Amino acid sequence: MIEKQFTASYQIYDHLEEMNQEDIKLMKQAAEARNNAYAPYSKFMVGAAILMANGKVVIGSNQENAAYPSGLCAERNAIYQAGALYPNEKIEAIAITVKSQKKKVIVPAAPCGACRQAIAEYEFKQEHPIKIMFMAEIGKVIKVNALLDILPLAFDGSSL
Ligand code: THU
Repeated sequence: MIEKQFTASYQIYDHLEEMNQEDIKLMKQAAEARNNAYAPYSKFMVGAAILMANGKVVIGSNQENAAYPSGLCAERNAIYQAGALYPNEKIEAIAITVKSQKKKVIVPAAPCGACRQAIAEYEFKQEHPIKIMFMAEIGKVIKVNALLDILPLAFDGSSL
C-alpha cells in the first residue's frame, strides 16, 4: 500500500481590483451575464464568462425550470456554448460570480461537482489547463490554476 496526497495551490485575492486587467475584465463580463440568470425558484443568480484562446468571450447564466432537475448551471451553459461555437479553440479561463436575491452573499461560491466534471472534459480534450476564478457579488476572489486542481481523481474518457 502506498499513501498519496492531493496538493494544489490557489490564490485568494481580497478584492477583484487586485487581479490583473484580463481577469478583472472577465469577471465583470461574468457579472453582466449573471443579470440574465433565470432563477425564479432559488433566487440564486450565477454568471459565467469563458475566455477563449482567440480572445472571444462566451457567457452563460443559470437557467432554472419548474421541473427542477431540468434547469442548468451557469458554468455548464457557458462551457457547452463554448464547445458548440469554438470546437477547435482552447479555453483559457472561466470567471464565475454569484448573487442571491434573498441575502447578501460575500463568500465565493465554488462551481458544483457536476460543472467541474463538465469543465474537466474540455481540459482533458485540449490538454491545456483551464484557470477558474470565482467570487460572490463582492469580496474575495479565489483563483485556481487548473480545473483538475479542484477535481482530483477525475473520471475521464480513458476508462471507456
Ligand atoms: N448553480 C450554478 O449555476 N452553478 C453552480 O456551480 C452551483 C449552482 C445554480 C443552479 C441553480 O439554478 C441555483 O444555482 C441554485 O442551486
